[in-house]
Amino acid sequence: MSYKQTTCWHVDHFLGKDGDVEKIKEAALWIRRGEVVAFPTETVYGLGANALDEEAVKKIFIAKGRPSDNPLIVHIAKESALTDLVERVPEKAKRLIDAFWPGPLTIIFKKSTRVAPSVTAGLDTIAIRMPDHPVAQKIIEEARVPVAAPSANVSGKPSPTKATHVINDLNGKIAGIVDAGPTGVGLESTVIDCTKEPPVIYRPGGVTKEAIEAVIGKVDVARNAENDEETPLSPGMKYTHYAPDGALYLVSDPTKIEQLVRTAKKDGKKVGVLTTEEGKRLYDADVVVSCGTRTDLQTVATSLYDSLRTFDRYGVDVIYAETFPQEGVGAAIMNRLEKAALGKM
Ligand code: TXA
Ligand code: MG
Repeated sequence: MSYKQTTCWHVDHFLGKDGDVEKIKEAALWIRRGEVVAFPTETVYGLGANALDEEAVKKIFIAKGRPSDNPLIVHIAKESALTDLVERVPEKAKRLIDAFWPGPLTIIFKKSTRVAPSVTAGLDTIAIRMPDHPVAQKIIEEARVPVAAPSANVSGKPSPTKATHVINDLNGKIAGIVDAGPTGVGLESTVIDCTKEPPVIYRPGGVTKEAIEAVIGKVDVARNAENDEETPLSPGMKYTHYAPDGALYLVSDPTKIEQLVRTAKKDGKKVGVLTTEEGKRLYDADVVVSCGTRTDLQTVATSLYDSLRTFDRYGVDVIYAETFPQEGVGAAIMNRLEKAALGKM
């Protein structure tokens, strides 16, 4: 699928400018009619298609180069839209919905038969979330259909947190994009399977395990399954993700990073370091990127993917990244960094 051009609608985050609502209505109509359109959510930009239209959903897989056995998240704007999509809403799922929707939490349910088969990649379960972004909500509402939307990046690349990331990856491969500025949370939603007892977190994200356990009690966390031979519980777990072009290594000791930088430079490599405000003056690398401050790890989450893409822009050969504590949002940050570094730790 290729387009002469990808249409770009610029709107205000709160749709406050004259003409914003008309632009959203047009984008929503394109989705309703079977086109794929990228739009911002509070986590990352998504690539949306009508979840009831098999041909439309296939266009998502083609544009992203996404393996067809990796299912998509269905986005809704109202809780009442769940009824048609799932067999039942378990009690714990209901409590999570009341606590965290709209917001960065994706819940897996037993599915009904309505959605297009490729949305769920043949599974008997369906992942659903209600995004907390005025633009996403308005598009879904105006499309008047559930909207299947993975992150709007080429498969394997870091998820897009700015419209320019989407354009770099997908220009000419998708019908349109709604640009409402950078997203806020920066990492994708938490994915939790409520068909299991206790529920299982497949992907740590915008809502922390601690916050979830405060609402429904103990949950399990699936291990990263990439290096395992066994079938992963969530298909997305087995694919390399979030990877910049350069080889990325996680190193917890800054002194060790300084040594590694010196050695790599001697070997003639272009070297990058991913650090924070606290560490940015320590390193004599070619490209030093600060992705936030350790006093507020949400700042790191917000700019992590943009930081990883920065190394691509400078064409670095090797990246040494500092590590972060595994609690709270730190767990989601480390999960993404570990995937980006896959097999190189
Ligand atoms: O924040 C987000 O969740 C963003 C925005 C756009 O909403 N979306 C997103 O979608 O990150 P995607 O496709 O990049 O990631 C969806 C993840 C994948 O790892 C997929 O395997 C998993 O959810 N998933 C989807 N349906 C599933 C199911 N029925 N069972 C298990 N895992 C599922
Ligand atoms: Mg993704």
